Amino acid sequence: MSLLIKNGEVITGDARYVADIYCEGETITRIDQNIEAPAGAEVIDATGKYVFPGFIDPHTHIYLPFMGTHSKDTYETGTQAALVGGTTTIFDMCCPSRSMEPGEGFATWQAQAAGKAACDYTFHMGVTKFDANTEAQLRAIVAAGVQSFKIFLAYKGAFGIDDGELYQTLKLAKELGVVTTAHCENETLVAESQKNLLAAGSTGTGAHHESRPPRVEAEGVQHLMTFAELTGAPVYIVHLSCREALEEALRARLRGVQVGIETLIQYLLIDKSYAELPDFEGAKFVMSPPLRDKANQEVLWNGLRQGLVNTVGTDHAPFDFAGQKPMGKDDFTKIPNGIPALEDRINLLYTYGVKTGKIDLHTFVHVASTNAAKIFGLFPRKGTIQPGSDADLVIYDPAYRGKLSARTQVMNVDYSGFEGWPIEGRPAVVTVRGEVAVRDGKFVGTVGRGQFLKRPAIAV
Ligand code: URP
Ligand code: ZN
Ligand code: ZN
Repeated sequence: MSLLIKNGEVITGDARYVADIYCEGETITRIDQNIEAPAGAEVIDATGKYVFPGFIDPHTHIYLPFMGTHSKDTYETGTQAALVGGTTTIFDMCCPSRSMEPGEGFATWQAQAAGKAACDYTFHMGVTKFDANTEAQLRAIVAAGVQSFKIFLAYKGAFGIDDGELYQTLKLAKELGVVTTAHCENETLVAESQKNLLAAGSTGTGAHHESRPPRVEAEGVQHLMTFAELTGAPVYIVHLSCREALEEALRARLRGVQVGIETLIQYLLIDKSYAELPDFEGAKFVMSPPLRDKANQEVLWNGLRQGLVNTVGTDHAPFDFAGQKPMGKDDFTKIPNGIPALEDRINLLYTYGVKTGKIDLHTFVHVASTNAAKIFGLFPRKGTIQPGSDADLVIYDPAYRGKLSARTQVMNVDYSGFEGWPIEGRPAVVTVRGEVAVRDGKFVGTVGRGQFLKRPAIAV
């Protein structure tokens, strides 16, 4: 299997040039001018197109038992959707319930993905409790190639951990060279506020964001930062949504805390007014932390542009508007949380970030691919275009014009949070380790070819 991509404009985090890229087997082996096609090589003309490194989504929930239901995608549907949208590697959250042992959780998520994923994948290992049996199992999971944990400071009584468990997790993470990713919201403040709102008769979708104001998230971040500072463990804040939380993270950075910051395409583009839409339409836009006042969007874009916010993910958590969101019809606390976006992240970030001049092409590549690879131990195998890297390439057509819609999406969910939004550009061809997986918006790859990516622990 060999592939020659000719005359594309190669864009990485640091470089921009027109060249040919030759891939032999699964790997990029040569980048040069005027490469002759060897016999049998497939040749793709990328004239007038960008060639980006395969994009990486650092935060997805393809398989998620949550709030009494399951996220809708499977590894088959979710990874095809990822590829159509230009994402060639996903970090799925392995989230065992508190009644499940970590080893059992890891095996469950592995079994969900094996033989079904079309793109490459890895996990952030959820630590949803820390008892006498936890440590040995986490050590084994890290040894199996999982270099990151996931903790929740939210979801009291479900995934949420207490301060003792937080301390033990970070202490172990520091010892093992593991990055701990964290959902930061103060779960007690959320629970008390939910009770008050329901008691006052506020049951609708708009009450969701009232129950989780920016200060609740900022407190979660500040809390994590204190524990990270005192344990010396490297951490990564997932789905940061607002100015207050960002300020707490940046303050901690100045104190020397090693903290990565992720925001989501949803927070950059849609605001809390969507969650207030009438006739329960707002339920499509219920997620946690919630959508915020529009003013936060400029802060997040500035954070990306200035290199303060490191990654843009999706937190892809698809729940149907018809069958699943109505679980919270009369009580907003029961609406399954999540806004699907795995397929749309790159086209939205390009259209509303690059094309509008909010970020340049290099920042685009950094925040949608390279930085995640660097933070989570995949670089330079993933996240860049150079000889020796996996041949995960996105040949991107900036001349494409289209609209997002649930009717045409590959994601297995019955609505789009971006219904009717115009996009200006999309992947023309996507390759996964040298195999063409997408052509002209259609998946043409191989289900089951996606590999579990082993990631070594980092030196801390
Ligand atoms: O609303 C969200 N974010 N749903 C998925 C679970 C999580 O908190 O990441
Ligand atoms: Zn979360
Ligand atoms: Zn999440």
